Amino acid sequence: MTYQPLHYLYQPATTPTGVTLLLLHGTGGDERDLLPLAQSFGPGVNVLSVRGNVLEGGMPRFFRRLGMGVFDEDDVRFRTHELAAFLAQVSEKEGFDPTNIVAVGYSNGANIAGSLLLLYPELLAGAVLWRPMQPLTRDVPVVHTTRRPPVFFNPGSRDPTVDPPATERYATLLTTAGFQLTRQDTPTGHNLTQADVDGGITWFRQHFAAPAATASR
Ligand code: MLT
Repeated sequence: MTYQPLHYLYQPATTPTGVTLLLLHGTGGDERDLLPLAQSFGPGVNVLSVRGNVLEGGMPRFFRRLGMGVFDEDDVRFRTHELAAFLAQVSEKEGFDPTNIVAVGYSNGANIAGSLLLLYPELLAGAVLWRPMQPLTRDVPVVHTTRRPPVFFNPGSRDPTVDPPATERYATLLTTAGFQLTRQDTPTGHNLTQADVDGGITWFRQHFAAPAATASR
């Protein structure tokens, strides 16, 4: 299979800090879904919002699944490599720094972001994972990151679509690999709440604050 181009929207920062947010929607969403949240991350971020290339009953996703929470892991791998190749190309085309990308993903989008962490552990500068599930459970790569990117890891403690012990194993896998997890368990289901968004933005500001403006003379 050859890589397909991904639909995307790109909005350059008004006062660039160098960070590019990579927005990754949930099942049935598209590149417009998470855009309203992006401005809360501040005017200094470039925004790259991408639509998943897989369709499930007409609903865009970032990789195929065999059932609820059961992933086609060959496709997870293929689509992750496809996304990584796309990021290299689009960063050149749009002129942003490919070493300063922070993924912000919800549900299926969090899972392709997690797969980028596992298969390309030095690629992302950070990641917000809202409602994550471990995307690769077969032949799990031995992952080690020297870059040690911060990761906001945000399961819903009442999410019926996830198995809590699996969430713990995934968090342990990421931590052991060297990712710096900030964990927030929101007492809610699979839906994204304001508390999740606020938690992600606070985490982002702590780790990717814009450099202080130089005092004018
Ligand atoms: C979803 O609804 O998208 C699932 O919970 C997560 C996934 O399939 O990746």
